[in-house]
Amino acid sequence: MTREKIVKLLGSRSPVDEVLIKGWVRTRRDSKGFSFLEINDGSCLKNIQVIADESLANYDDIRKVTTGSAVAITGRLVESKGKGQGWEIQAEAVDIINIAPDDFPLQKKRHTDEFLRTIAHLRPRTNKYSAVFRIRSELAFAVHKFFRDRDFRHIHTPIITGSDCEGAGELFRITTLPPDKAAIKDGNTDFSDDFFGTEANLTVSGQLSAEMLALSLGDVYTFGPTFRAENSNTSRHVAEFWMVEPEMAFCDLDGNMQLGEDLIKFLVSWIIDHCADDLNLFARFVDKTLMPTLDNIVSSEFERLPYTDAIEILNKSGQKFDYAVDFGKDLQSEHERYLSEQHFEKPVILYDYPKEIKPFYMRLNDDDRTVAAMDVLVPRIGEIIGGSQREERLEVLKRRIAETGMAQEPYWWYLDARRFGSVEHSGFGMGFERVLMLVTGISNIRDVIPFPRTPGSIEF
Ligand code: 4AD
Ligand code: MG
Repeated sequence: MTREKIVKLLGSRSPVDEVLIKGWVRTRRDSKGFSFLEINDGSCLKNIQVIADESLANYDDIRKVTTGSAVAITGRLVESKGKGQGWEIQAEAVDIINIAPDDFPLQKKRHTDEFLRTIAHLRPRTNKYSAVFRIRSELAFAVHKFFRDRDFRHIHTPIITGSDCEGAGELFRITTLPPDKAAIKDGNTDFSDDFFGTEANLTVSGQLSAEMLALSLGDVYTFGPTFRAENSNTSRHVAEFWMVEPEMAFCDLDGNMQLGEDLIKFLVSWIIDHCADDLNLFARFVDKTLMPTLDNIVSSEFERLPYTDAIEILNKSGQKFDYAVDFGKDLQSEHERYLSEQHFEKPVILYDYPKEIKPFYMRLNDDDRTVAAMDVLVPRIGEIIGGSQREERLEVLKRRIAETGMAQEPYWWYLDARRFGSVEHSGFGMGFERVLMLVTGISNIRDVIPFPRTPGSIEF
């Protein structure tokens, strides 16, 4: 009998004779003549109770089994006599695979998220974190399902690149130069001795490559790790995160906004429909407003308004913000959250941002002040998606590259795409961890990725 099968059987009504379950002991309780073991194999939130009685040959050893130990149980699945317990296993054999010493840190008590971050290698063994990572897996599947159902091609874009897509300079440099040589200050490092013969970085976004594929295959998406050396220790930024980036040929900003809205709604409903037990844990213990928040996202039409209108709303709000609001300034998460949580009480898509605060590749609007950018803002998080219609006009693009102080030469291939069959096209990036925060109600991004990378922290 496979592990999967027994888990499925736990909710069924027919007794099963022989079952085998392998997992970790959550607790052991002893009674006269038998012991109860609560076992969890990570496949779902529920433990299964095992009754080991004194007739078992290794009963003395079973009474030494500790929390955190690994065991394999063979036995009969029987209806539990205890109230509301469903099913339990009457053990015929308890194979003790490994005994955890007493210093196993996850003894039966509640631990803080901060403490659990210090034992990131063990926290997936708790109810909360196993639920997060099961939902994470389901969410990744849902991303592929969404795009496949819409005939998007899944492409892979490079992780090592020579370009800075966002132009923000938040790059992790890749080098094989010895530390003393690599350490020479900017401008003086001789990259000709380096592995690629030129400067190389970890990618901040797969977009520029994705555009090339979209302008060949039509609708594509890439879903991979991205890296940013942002020195911002916030609850919404990590140095290594996963981004979902669709790119669509023959698509304008409206089509792009629609895709973003559809994607968020699809993912949220998918998790509601497929992760009910795990979600229930978050709704009970993490965020009591989780289910209404998620239902609201699925059922509401996202508000769409220009950045300029948002600035006006914020200025008239009478709200005290830490950061000032002014045309030409980037919005902070407090502003984004105010708009979606308090003002509109639903997700909001802002578009047409001032060109000065957005990257070179966004399409310049006729007003010459704004670009066809769009950010999707959701309650409790703020920005979850950032994207744009791309500048498809060669001359304008060249001008924008120059204006943003970038060198044109490394982008010759990107410019080529505007010389040979250039068409309007659009896309966006959705932060995968931010979606996980949204669907679980978890407020710190460090808690939705197994081994978070943040400034000063690379353990595990
Ligand atoms: O808005 P961003 O910077 O957009 C881009 O990188 C575009 N090139 C994407 C594209 O158009 N193909 O990032 C996109 C999303 C953000 O909205 C946010 O959800 C997430 O990526 N994100 C981060 N998530 C976690 N930690 C960080 N440091 C993040 N930076 C961005
Ligand atoms: Mg952004």
